[in-house]
Amino acid sequence: VEKITEQVEEWSSNSNEALHITLQRQTDSGPVELAIFHPEFTYPIYGEEESLFGYKGLKIDLTFAAHNLRPSVKITYDERFKQMGEVKPSDVEEPLREFLPASAFSSGLELHAQEETPTEPFRPPGTLMHSYTNSEGHKFEIWCSSLADPAMRTMLNYMQILVPLFIEGGSLIDLDDPQWTIERWKVFLLYQVHDTPNPSPTESPYALLGYSTSYRVFALPRPTMAELSSSTRAPYSGHALESELISPPYPQATPLDLPSRERISQFLILPPYQGSGHGRQLYRTMYSHLTSAPNVLELTVEDPNEAFDDLRDLCDLAHLRTIPAFADLTINPNIPKEKLANGHYIPTDLIVPESLRTTFRTATKLAQRQFDRLVEMHTLSAIP
Ligand code: ACO
Repeated sequence: VEKITEQVEEWSSNSNEALHITLQRQTDSGPVELAIFHPEFTYPIYGEEESLFGYKGLKIDLTFAAHNLRPSVKITYDERFKQMGEVKPSDVEEPLREFLPASAFSSGLELHAQEETPTEPFRPPGTLMHSYTNSEGHKFEIWCSSLADPAMRTMLNYMQILVPLFIEGGSLIDLDDPQWTIERWKVFLLYQVHDTPNPSPTESPYALLGYSTSYRVFALPRPTMAELSSSTRAPYSGHALESELISPPYPQATPLDLPSRERISQFLILPPYQGSGHGRQLYRTMYSHLTSAPNVLELTVEDPNEAFDDLRDLCDLAHLRTIPAFADLTINPNIPKEKLANGHYIPTDLIVPESLRTTFRTATKLAQRQFDRLVEMHTLSAIP
């Protein structure tokens, strides 16, 4: 039994380690590898155990063109286990086919470039929203495009390959949705812009470091206090808004102008670029753009994980603290004892009076639960 276990181990590879992701930039003097890294998860592709049997030196090379993330995959190994009865090597390629376009298996990136024969240098889809330079003098740009743009849809189809590899439980956008739905989606692209004076059509200064998507859902406007007191309807709780979403078909003429809420869906900074403030730049750009429309009542996030919550709290708190009335909030020392009877939680409305709370929330468009958490963080952080 020991010998068999040893043999199984000898011929097994961890699929996270076997999969190498490369970001490759095309230049006229040849391809440049910008970064090589491993996925966080491969269980959506290769199963819970993330293990592949039957190879020595197995390498799955998944290369993305840095400007538009067009993928290309190559599977190599030093030795393959010879089938013995029922015991045979795992199929490495077949499970990948569900996650990658067929073209990724058939040709290298260079061939794609020839097929396309570009006549102009690549330009990201959409509009430039924000640019910044880091302490090393590298330049970055954030672009925003609607999914109604076919070039963006093609790119997102490639970019979404990264979702199961890096976002636990992340959901994929159905790119076959009817047009009216697609128009509700926006994609924010974070690029490093490499110094390339006069780029030729076959080279690109742009290299994607991360991206995020958002979509606009229709929502009934929040009732005013006067409306609330004159009706028997349950008071608006923030979370209840979800059940008030209006399903299609809705009047088609001006759907994007109706009272809405924006919701961030996928948010990803690629591992080699994490922890350098890019997530913060991307979130802030999205926040200011998405909350600027007067008919957008609220910015929410779909299924955030802990790391994203940290990022969001940090950005939202810094933003709220620029409002003097918020910065001055302190814990109310006169909270009646019975209000504290159920534990340590101090109801936010005892710290922030309802009228002021409405003012903050209307000004910042933060969801109620997020706002309440930030009030707690802000007031508690003042306690020595
Ligand atoms: N743990 C604790 N704090 C964090 C973390 C973390 N993992 N990531 C960021 N922060 C905080 C830090 O306080 C940091 O402040 P500092 O600069 O003083 O250290 C601050 O947020 C800003 O950090 P950034 O460098 O801007 O964050 P980054 O560029 O790494 O982006 C993100 C963070 C988006 C979580 C990134 O690490 C990532 O893409 N991870 C993998 C995919 C993922 O988990 N995406 C979110 C899924 S949820 C969703 O999609 C809605």
